[in-house]
Amino acid sequence: MISNLRDVLPPPIKYAVNRFVDAIITASGRIFSANRWLANLYYFLLSRRFDREHLAVLKGRAAYYRALCEMGDTSPLLRRNVHRLEKGLIMQPRRNVFAEAFILETVHCYNCAKGRPTYSQDELRWATDVLDEYFSVVEDTPPIRKARKEYSGEGAESKPRADIDPCTFKPYPLSACPETDVSFEQLATLFLRRRSVRWYKQEPVPPELIQQAINVAALAPSACNRQPYRFIVANDPSRATEIAECAGGTTGFAHQIPVIIIVVGDLSAYPKERDRHLIYIDASLASMQLMLAAETLGLSTCPINWPDVDWSERRLQGILDLPGYERVVMLISIGYGDLASGIPYSQKKQNELITQWCAEK
Ligand SMILES: Cc1cc2nc3c(=O)[nH]c(=O)nc-3n(C[C@H](O)[C@H](O)[C@H](O)COP(=O)(O)O)c2cc1C
Repeated sequence: MISNLRDVLPPPIKYAVNRFVDAIITASGRIFSANRWLANLYYFLLSRRFDREHLAVLKGRAAYYRALCEMGDTSPLLRRNVHRLEKGLIMQPRRNVFAEAFILETVHCYNCAKGRPTYSQDELRWATDVLDEYFSVVEDTPPIRKARKEYSGEGAESKPRADIDPCTFKPYPLSACPETDVSFEQLATLFLRRRSVRWYKQEPVPPELIQQAINVAALAPSACNRQPYRFIVANDPSRATEIAECAGGTTGFAHQIPVIIIVVGDLSAYPKERDRHLIYIDASLASMQLMLAAETLGLSTCPINWPDVDWSERRLQGILDLPGYERVVMLISIGYGDLASGIPYSQKKQNELITQWCAEK
């Protein structure tokens, strides 16, 4: 209502009001940033800007615990624990006893996942291979013995697809990684070639190219290998435009975006607030790979900002109906770039502006 009121004010009065509001914000910022108690008071009494994040983090936590009982097709807990087992397996030197604190929880979760017909077969296969390896090397202690019993009690059918494909999903030596003939110069050229492209040819983009780009994007690192994100693809141009228009940063070019990808982070991957930033980090790492992959497929992209703005959130919510624990990380427009269109130079910081070398100890 206040912003509506400001819109109808004559420009000089609007300017004065804005200056007054700025002065109050500056002064209150100085006072309330003095310590964390005052900061809490500020966000309790004077600003509701973190409301949505608080709510999403709590909804995420509730969904995390709910999923322990009603498991879906993937489990952040199983993914995290299996990954912790992998790290124990490659430890130098490897300990005779490890993962005692969480192996029972892992086996419970695994058995639960196995009972779900829709559970990801690849994820189960990974869990099976790692658990097999773990139980083949670890020495028994009471909790490990109990977990071993619960694990092996389920029988040989606990190994989905292992009989079809002889290669396993367990840890392997670095020397087994594929060689690459991509040189530094070639990679740098790909980085130079990728620019934020905002103007596109009005040509459809084959969905299989987008899927290809998404699948290699998913090879990006993620904390504890949870991959707490998904990519929602709007490849109907009018839908893409409608979604692009929800973001302020597409003014003037939203109408001709052929495809838009909504990168969504999933806070239900975490039981603790301390991990709430990981959705942004992991989804962004994958998004960068997606954009570079798109480039190699002849497609151009532009990342689009998704600030926490009430109007945008409500509008996109009306279109996508995301669960409360999912947060939009960014949008990515994608399509065949219009070769005649302009690219901002966007000078990049280098060397000492972005690098600090720590002093020797
Ligand atoms: C998180 C993020 C949000 C961005 N949001 C927008 C946006 O809303 N609108 C836009 O036109 N460009 C946006 N960009 C593109 C940047 O302007 C662009 O990356 C930057 O100027 C560097 O140019 P380059 O990507 O061509 O190297 C965004 C980029 C990032 C990484």
